[in-house]
Amino acid sequence: KTNNMTIQDILQKEELDTKDIATLLQTEGDEQKLLFAKAQEVQLEYVGRKVFYRGLVEFSNVCAKNCFYCGIRKDNKEVVRYHLEDKQVLEAARFAYENNYASIVLQAGERSDDFFVDRVDRLLKDIKVLSNGELGITVSLGEQSDQTYQRWFDSGAHRYLLRIESSNKVLYNQIHPDNDAHDFENRVRCLHSLKKIGYQTGTGVMVGLPWQTYDDLARDLLFMRDFDIDMCGMGPYIEHHQTPLFQNRAQLWPIETRFSVTLNMIAVLRILMKDINIAAATALQAIDPMGREKALRIGANVIMPNVTPTLHRKDYLLYENKPCADEGAEDCSNCLSMRIELADREVGYGEWGDSKHFMNRK
Ligand code: 5AD
Ligand code: SF4
Ligand code: FES
Repeated sequence: KTNNMTIQDILQKEELDTKDIATLLQTEGDEQKLLFAKAQEVQLEYVGRKVFYRGLVEFSNVCAKNCFYCGIRKDNKEVVRYHLEDKQVLEAARFAYENNYASIVLQAGERSDDFFVDRVDRLLKDIKVLSNGELGITVSLGEQSDQTYQRWFDSGAHRYLLRIESSNKVLYNQIHPDNDAHDFENRVRCLHSLKKIGYQTGTGVMVGLPWQTYDDLARDLLFMRDFDIDMCGMGPYIEHHQTPLFQNRAQLWPIETRFSVTLNMIAVLRILMKDINIAAATALQAIDPMGREKALRIGANVIMPNVTPTLHRKDYLLYENKPCADEGAEDCSNCLSMRIELADREVGYGEWGDSKHFMNRK
């Protein structure tokens, strides 16, 4: 399966092409260990042992979109919809601040009505005030206009996460409805706009989608390299029975394969883009109790502890079996610091942990 090149040969190459990457993504057993060893070596040399926290605030599960894979898609009538009150969002931010997380992520279902855009703008300003300007703020609120991105940037957001989900337009169209609200070109436009405005820009994909191939995944990584992203978050696709894509579950890779290939994606990306920030996605832990720790050892250097009030966590299930649904912010904080130590990593308390790649480019 490795043709005439051994994994060792590929790992020594200066430039990896689609075929090399697809080969690396399929490694298991001893070959996978070689890949992981190389990724770990790059990680320790370029970003070190530090792992940075981003306190995740899931402030509303109301979404105007209908992605075929997602549990909180608009047409899922079984979801109990919620909005945190401003006060609750600010409390969650304060928890992160007081626990030295240094940085938070504001996430919600996607909307772009004026009411929502104004609200986010106000929250950004309030969070800056409550933390004396010290909390870093990442926004993960989907596709918006250039003006909205600029406005949120001016109000204090400095990083933006917008997963491309798949860089293969055909596959993208297979997992999204066929309408203007789910347009691949617009998503790419958004990524360019974010970068131009000056955000540290992050993207990512789901791994193990129906119809997805190793070549698709290899090209996803090359897309990230060519776009010159600053951050990445990618996780395994996990089917949710209240979604249309659940009908295609027969053709999915086994869940262990999706898990293992996600780790390979992280390892290869670390080798390709040595100084970016890579998140250990929570979805990894839905499959393996030590999933995130495994990712931290082979290239990931960011983790997103959930600081959403416990009451609402069960209503923000993009996929099933999401971990920490019953835990509070305090529980996750204690649990994670122990886990990170066990993974031989160190929490970068009090540090923004900006993407070195972004800083080096400037
Ligand atoms: N499995 C895994 N990840 C999912 N996401 C949405 N639904 C699922 C699912 N069923 C991811 C998407 C989105 C991010 C917020 O969550 O990649 O960008
Ligand atoms: Fe909405 Fe995001 Fe889910 Fe798509 S993935 S339905 S935009 S919350
Ligand atoms: Fe949430 Fe362990 S990280 S309980």
